[in-house]
Amino acid sequence: MEKKFKRTTVTSALPYANGPVHIGHLAGVYVPADIYVRYLRLKKEDVLFIGGSDEHGVPITIRARKEGVTPQDIVDRYHTLIKESFKEFGISFDVYGRTSSEVHRQTASDFFRKLYDKGEFIEKTSMQYYDEEAGTFLADRYITGECPHCHAEGAYGDQCEKCGTSLSPTELINPKSAISGSQPVMRETKHWYLPLDKHEAWLREWILEGHKEWRNNVYGQCKSWLDMGLQPRAVSRDLDWGIPVPVEGAEGKVLYVWFDAPIGYISNTKELLPDSWEKWWKDPETRLVHFIGKDNIVFHCIVFPSMLKAEGSYILPDNVPSNEFLNLEGDKISTSRNWAVWLHEYLRDFPGKQDVLRYVLTANAPETKDNDFTWKDFQARNNNELVAVYGNFVNRALQLTQKYYNGIVPACGELTDYDKETLNEFKDVKAKVEELLDVFKFRDAQKEAMNLARIGNKYIADSEPWKVVKTDPERVKTIIYISLQLTANLAIAFEPFLPFSSEKLRKMLNMDSFEWNQLGSTELLTPGHQLATPELLFEKIEDDAIQAQVQKLLDTKKANEEANYKANPIKENIAFEDFEKLDIRVGTVLECTKVPKADKLLCFKIADGLENRTIVSGIAKYYKPEELVGKQVCFIANLAPRKLKGIESQGMILSALDNDGSLSVVTVNREVKPGSEVC
Ligand code: 2FM
Ligand code: ZN
Repeated sequence: MEKKFKRTTVTSALPYANGPVHIGHLAGVYVPADIYVRYLRLKKEDVLFIGGSDEHGVPITIRARKEGVTPQDIVDRYHTLIKESFKEFGISFDVYGRTSSEVHRQTASDFFRKLYDKGEFIEKTSMQYYDEEAGTFLADRYITGECPHCHAEGAYGDQCEKCGTSLSPTELINPKSAISGSQPVMRETKHWYLPLDKHEAWLREWILEGHKEWRNNVYGQCKSWLDMGLQPRAVSRDLDWGIPVPVEGAEGKVLYVWFDAPIGYISNTKELLPDSWEKWWKDPETRLVHFIGKDNIVFHCIVFPSMLKAEGSYILPDNVPSNEFLNLEGDKISTSRNWAVWLHEYLRDFPGKQDVLRYVLTANAPETKDNDFTWKDFQARNNNELVAVYGNFVNRALQLTQKYYNGIVPACGELTDYDKETLNEFKDVKAKVEELLDVFKFRDAQKEAMNLARIGNKYIADSEPWKVVKTDPERVKTIIYISLQLTANLAIAFEPFLPFSSEKLRKMLNMDSFEWNQLGSTELLTPGHQLATPELLFEKIEDDAIQAQVQKLLDTKKANEEANYKANPIKENIAFEDFEKLDIRVGTVLECTKVPKADKLLCFKIADGLENRTIVSGIAKYYKPEELVGKQVCFIANLAPRKLKGIESQGMILSALDNDGSLSVVTVNREVKPGSEVC
């Protein structure tokens, strides 16, 4: 039998405060978590929604070092930006805390100490890279060198970003410290480990037998970790940014960020509810749900539960709905490559359009596989779904009420069979949406809500009130009455997904509030009720707004290509005599024409100081023929002639191949006599 719970604690992964949040974070974690929490609140369930910033870890120290500021400066900056943009976007956290807070330091420190005192850790010494110049151990990310696989320079101690291989620092060829640039040496260091191997048996039983209902991606990842066999995991690091390890002999060591971050959920609850936080974490009648991205699965399903179990007084998660990744225009979202749609920029560029992004990210949510966000799809979903289906129906229903009844809800007359059929169709929408939301199928649930608007559009189109009004005005009252009830149902059904639009619609309907359990009712608006003045619920998004976003991404791509540009390796040395074999000359272009049926080729007549010559060159994509007439170009004069599209080409015009693949002809910077040698 299904267990009955009294309340639900919902957590959403704490984003690293080393950059703003982007649409990948939103689609993966925050939008689904927010829909779920709003849904539970609408059902009047007891729920707490915990968020916050993850402010420790090496990426933050690296960013600070790069900018020449302190890690605290970095986290202060991004914590504020993230918190404010979430708020504006309508992510309805009950608390949004931070892991650099004192409450968190104390909570995480006590948690570690309790496990330490209970003998839940093992201590191990190992050899690690140490920077003698800087006098510090080096985190994996702080060591760079040559990748042993693809031989790229600048691979990190944990991964080569060129070929994507995971590495350990000792595999790097010629390792260097990113702090001082010196060659690091191996030194012994001591750390505390959580012996996950000891937890394996109960984890197997708890997940593989007890939680078969978890999403396939989550269950599958857990199973493969468990089948591989768990190893002890270090929970401390040699670093100067983090929570000090609270035991003797641990100077210079801090808690590993993945040890303290999930405890952040607990400390943020404490910040909000200093006196009653425990019931949200320790009462077996509380249900704990973690919303995360797929790269966090092992930490939330294996590591954190092992920590909670080892501590002994906490509940374990009941579900961990994790999404796959959202890509952007076909490429992986990347903070370091600036390949992202940043939330704060979206809010600036599309003011008042929070719900459009919420809608698109849910309609296209990566629930079972990675998905792609494109600006074209964003525009299409807004214009063809929100505007043309939902907005259009609402607008028709409200405008017709204005036109025929001065905005007053008419009385319902006798129902036809078609009316009854329509009413029947939306009667069970509540059950359908609930069934889907209960199992975290947000995409399908939103589709059900949209389906209501489709039903409405069809009903109005089929009923043709604008025609019927001439012959049977009484009948029109019923049509409008039903359309208005449907409109009110839409405001309720979309409430968890599109809260801003539901509020706007509710105001247009001049209603103070709706209850979730009224969803499906055909008596939400009583005859005689005065509606407010209608406005458009959604607006069309024009091509130029989309083009501006696409251009921004193209600019980013170009900037990345330029930053990554590295000339091809220089070819092997040749003897001077070999060079002398080439006869390179300057010639003046006398004529230049397109070669018929060859879009790449131009045919040149070149004055070469002797008898003139014909050369065919593959640069048609980069020049108009007339641009080149009169120019002096360099060409190889003694290349054996060859036929191109039936024309004998007597030599080769020299061009420079640019980074983006375009060609630029080599010219001279002062006019010389045709036939001059290049030497
Ligand atoms: O992957 C991340 O962005 C982590 N900062 C998530 C941490 S979730 C939790 F444990 F705090
Ligand atoms: Zn590599």
